Amino acid sequence: MKTKILLKEADMPTHWYNVVADMPNPPAPILAPDGSPIDPAALAAIFPPTIIEQEVSSERWIAIPDEVREVLRLWRPSPLYRAERLERALNTPARIYFKNEAVSPAGSHKPNTAVAQAYYNKIHGITRLTTETGAGQWGCSLALAGQLFGLEVRVYMVKVSYEQKPYRRSMMQTWGAEVFASPTDMTHSGRHILAQHPDSPGSLGIAISEAVEEAAGRADTNYALGSVLNHVLLHQTIIGEEAKKQMALVGDYPDMVFAPCGGGSNFGGIAFPFFADKAAGKQVELVAVEPTSCPTLTKGVYAYDFGDTEGLTPLTKMYTLGHDFMPPGIHAGGLRYHGESALVSQLYDEGLVSAMAIPQMETFEAGVLFSKTQGIIPAPESCHAVAAAIREAKRCAETGEPKTLLFNLSGHGHFDMSAYDRYFKGELEDYDYPEAAIRESLAHLPKVG
Ligand SMILES: Cc1ncc(COP(=O)(O)O)c(C=O)c1O
Repeated sequence: MKTKILLKEADMPTHWYNVVADMPNPPAPILAPDGSPIDPAALAAIFPPTIIEQEVSSERWIAIPDEVREVLRLWRPSPLYRAERLERALNTPARIYFKNEAVSPAGSHKPNTAVAQAYYNKIHGITRLTTETGAGQWGCSLALAGQLFGLEVRVYMVKVSYEQKPYRRSMMQTWGAEVFASPTDMTHSGRHILAQHPDSPGSLGIAISEAVEEAAGRADTNYALGSVLNHVLLHQTIIGEEAKKQMALVGDYPDMVFAPCGGGSNFGGIAFPFFADKAAGKQVELVAVEPTSCPTLTKGVYAYDFGDTEGLTPLTKMYTLGHDFMPPGIHAGGLRYHGESALVSQLYDEGLVSAMAIPQMETFEAGVLFSKTQGIIPAPESCHAVAAAIREAKRCAETGEPKTLLFNLSGHGHFDMSAYDRYFKGELEDYDYPEAAIRESLAHLPKVG
């Protein structure tokens, strides 16, 4: 039995897969912040033309530029593993595979799109990028990509993460980026939040407002988003394309594919290439895994909403907990987002992908078991996929079903050890689904149509 299933560099995919080509219905249109139809050109204040084209494209295959492939080759193709030691520990007849995206320099899947976004901005004459970061993985990825293509990068880092993860800040600085704890007093959006909540721990929604505001106000500066948007999920499909080739090398195919789901980029990345097979009639269940404290798909509503807290972004139809929902300060910072990718939302609404929510303690329990058996310490976000795969493998142990399970190990947890420390000290807790806060926030959804 093979433990590591490896592709040659020459086997790295040459095209991204666009799921829109296989969706039964076209994506719901993006609307302007006032609810009127939007001209994609209106996005030109913050995105380069090629990214805007990709955002609205329905072409099935989109070529990966050679300059992007050259950088991705620094760590791709990433390995696929058979988690045989975990299988043995669970005494399960299930076969468990995982794709290891932790091997990138930043430690997660996020550079897959950061490199592409930095490249397209560079060739369109942009010299600076702004962005937000929650867990720090995305900020690191854009800092790295900006450095490789000669762009300045400014990162608004959610304050709670800035304090929990000082070394993520150091990494971004090592790759040449400026980093500020959001909310800051440098933008209208930040000052507005601080006036209402001087001790705000920040959120991805607030940090996005700050980064978008700055990019919209400067001609030399664009904005880069680490998740949610169609082009981001497109760039991540290299994960699932590689995984399909790797599963084929060992003559196996997943019954179920799991990925942690914040804004949906690593889920779309691993799941969409399998969706192409599902659309062609193959049986495969694609499961997005979210925290019970920020249960966007499983407890949110499918409605038009803003991507940020201050209402500066266009409106997208998505599962949302309300743009001013403030999630509890859980340790999976990358999963603390009120909204969800429009593509994942639509497929979920149509019953073509599924979702589950897992409480914080179970995710760390799973992460520790995975570390002890497979060696790799997962990021708290990734622990959600590990936990989901373990739940299913245990179910298989009870029923005797020899299912094939695949999950995305979206990142390592080397900079999240304070979270593991708190888990070991018994200081972590499960947050109940914050029903009242979500109800309050959903009352503020924009009125559309
Ligand atoms: C390691 C890791 N996994 C998962 C996520 C969730 O994001 P997404 O849903 O876009 O993949 C993040 C976000 O920061 C992350 O850092």
